[in-house]
Amino acid sequence: MATQRRQNPSFLPLISVFALFFVVVAADVFFEEGFHGDWESRWVKSEWKKDENMAGEWNHTSGKWNGDSNDKGIQTSEDYRFYAISAEFPEFSNKGKTLVFQFSVKHEQKLDCGGGYMKLLSGDVDQKKFGGDTPYSIMFGPDICGYTTKKVHAILTYNGTNHLIKKEVPCETDQLTHVYTFILRPDATYSILIDNVEKQTGSLYSDWDLLPPKTIKDPSAKKPEDWDEKEYIDDPEDKKPEGYDDIPKEITDPEAKKPEDWDDEEDGEWTAPTIPNPEYKGPWTPKKIKNPNYKGKWKAPMIDNPDFKDDPDLYVFPNLKYVGVELWQVKSGTLFDNIVICDDPEYAKQIAEETWGKQKDAEKAAFEEAEKKREEEESKDAPADSDAEEDDADDDADSDDADDKSDSKDDETHDEL
Ligand SMILES: *[C@@H]1O[C@H](CO)[C@@H](O)[C@H](O)[C@H]1NC(C)=O
Ligand SMILES: *[C@@H]1O[C@H](CO)[C@@H](O)[C@H](O)[C@H]1NC(C)=O
Repeated sequence: MATQRRQNPSFLPLISVFALFFVVVAADVFFEEGFHGDWESRWVKSEWKKDENMAGEWNHTSGKWNGDSNDKGIQTSEDYRFYAISAEFPEFSNKGKTLVFQFSVKHEQKLDCGGGYMKLLSGDVDQKKFGGDTPYSIMFGPDICGYTTKKVHAILTYNGTNHLIKKEVPCETDQLTHVYTFILRPDATYSILIDNVEKQTGSLYSDWDLLPPKTIKDPSAKKPEDWDEKEYIDDPEDKKPEGYDDIPKEITDPEAKKPEDWDDEEDGEWTAPTIPNPEYKGPWTPKKIKNPNYKGKWKAPMIDNPDFKDDPDLYVFPNLKYVGVELWQVKSGTLFDNIVICDDPEYAKQIAEETWGKQKDAEKAAFEEAEKKREEEESKDAPADSDAEEDDADDDADSDDADDKSDSKDDETHDEL
């Protein structure tokens, strides 16, 4: 854990001359990880799924394309594997503080189904056993599956139950690094940022079902008998015109003539065909007018919900102690880096600017270069009359894709419940 940026607030009065100078950086940083140096001493790889040979290895790397090859993170490196790794920090409560949880993630593998989220855990956790069933406090980050799921998860655990955010927050879907930030404030508001841009904001009360609703429709209220919901009524002044019903629907075609070769004896008596009467307007209906007694659609009045009990500590996680990644990956290549857990959104923003912000253009250029190379290789490898061997390779790739969907659909449901 990088502690050099941490400021001790009680230290500030002693150097009041510098206090102003320190304001910007006087964030409480609970955890910060750039995966420099001896990162493995700070992280515990779980033994979850190891006995089934399903635990994937992490690769300490800056990836195939990057903006700074010295800025390494950890990347999933084996397909069809479970990943679980966590780091501990000194336990803290976010009561009375803003909580900021931020990290960057890059899906180099062109992720078509899988997660890129991280978790904050509370209390005491056996890190060696950390896995899909380990209770967590917050799960945050992107999740992609097929064409339908491309969203940012923000799951909060309250009173032992995991609650998904009710608003849709689309995530990034390209193969570049993006920074995801979750901010939770003591006034029970939150913000979700991607690449330092706010994508969603609101209240814990309205955007999750953590508590029962504050107000409900009065269940005992009934629509009054004389409540008039008809917006339009028949005009009582409008009268059916005299003789209206006498107008026939059809009339004899005045143009019709008995054909010259018509033989009454052979063909029977000639009758002119009928045609629709242009005068006929259908059954009479009175004109409609606005109903002067219209009161609008009746709605039951809202009353205070007797089951609602406010919790002023709704936003509080009193024993935050670990950060972890717990994923199932069909295709590996997801790279996590630059994790920050602090109480100051400005500080986190600064970290994002110094890392992702400084590197993103070079990373994009490196990616485009890599793509160009890949396309060239592919067109070299696959001449117009491709041989049988290459056809086989294509088939394999196709069936992999099909497997992806069904496999991780299950996992997703499992994870959210
Ligand atoms: C780790 O990542 C680098 C860069 O993408 C790659 O060259 C290397 O093969 C990877 N190592 C493993 C063990 O996957
Ligand atoms: C917490 O959960 C328990 C058990 O499920 C329930 O009885 C209680 O009402 C819940 N409290 C709140 C504040 O949701």
